[in-house]
Amino acid sequence: MSQQSHISDIEQIESSALRELDAAGGLDELEQWRIAYLGRRGRLTQVLRRLGGLAPEERGRVGAAANRAKAALEQQLAERERSARKSQIDASLAEGAIDVTLPGWPSPAGGLHPTTQTIREICDAFVSMGFEVMEGPEVEWDRYNFEMLNIPKHHPARDSFNTLWIDYTDSDGERPMLLRTHTSPMQARVMENRRPPVRVVVPGKCYRYEATDPTHEWHFSQVEGLAVDRGITMSDLKGTLQEFVRRVFGPERRVRFRCDYFPFVEPGVDWAIDCFACAGEGCRICSDSGWIEIAGAGMVHPNVLKGVGYDPAVYTGFAFGMGVERVAMLKHGIEDVRLFYANDLRFLRQF
Ligand code: PHE
Repeated sequence: MSQQSHISDIEQIESSALRELDAAGGLDELEQWRIAYLGRRGRLTQVLRRLGGLAPEERGRVGAAANRAKAALEQQLAERERSARKSQIDASLAEGAIDVTLPGWPSPAGGLHPTTQTIREICDAFVSMGFEVMEGPEVEWDRYNFEMLNIPKHHPARDSFNTLWIDYTDSDGERPMLLRTHTSPMQARVMENRRPPVRVVVPGKCYRYEATDPTHEWHFSQVEGLAVDRGITMSDLKGTLQEFVRRVFGPERRVRFRCDYFPFVEPGVDWAIDCFACAGEGCRICSDSGWIEIAGAGMVHPNVLKGVGYDPAVYTGFAFGMGVERVAMLKHGIEDVRLFYANDLRFLRQF
């Protein structure tokens, strides 16, 4: 074929294409037209594909003609599609199928999980008292979860943490990795990396090898608190926690501290508030004691301070670890901790 006949071939395709386009009706027909001319095996596409076989001096002019035709067809198609779409909308509006004045379908907005809400509330209370919020790893080394917290290997206190070990054995035959049993390892991690004064709260998930019941879950959340500086005393601990209770549970709640044992504090306390349901009279929620424990706390043990290179003769501090679901249960009168992670929307939507 001569160069001239290639070009007239293209012109012919173009004019028949435009004629057919004129006749095409709705969007479906336009699509069929597109496939016939511009699709992978379309008539114009085939011409373009054959260009490679032409002599170089022909290729330029024929190619230019083919590309111009292609651009023209694409432009026409786009215009036709636009008007076809518009008439489709006009038609359905005319049919009265859509009443544009009707309100739209509400899209479900979702919400924050009660645990998340409670973590935010707890952290807000401490942030407003000058604490900073940090997070740490959920898969932790034995070293941080236990050893740096004054719980050496084979110490009986390890038995009070029902640990989920990671199935990885090091060259000494030890399993050094676990799902953290509490947020306390962050005490050591934070102190290792900065000098006093330290004032942090650490929210996060914890895991224990635990049979579940209304007050135990194998997975739960804590907020750890740590303040270390010169001259910090037990009265700072009590004052801070008392103020926290006032902010989160209201001014009427009373606070109780009793001796308790945690290897990484000395002295250690368990921290309780008087039962909001019976105001200390004794009821089902507080198992007739009038008090509800919400955290362990105490003065940071000198061995923990030494372990991170702080001089216990200069610096003292307090620490606490609060159960988040515990706090949420108290605030909302929830009776079973397992509800938090059962993913039942009937429960979750109430918050
Ligand atoms: N980590 C302790 C626990 O999970 C709680 C705690 C934290 C106690 C800080 C004292 C000081 O049981």
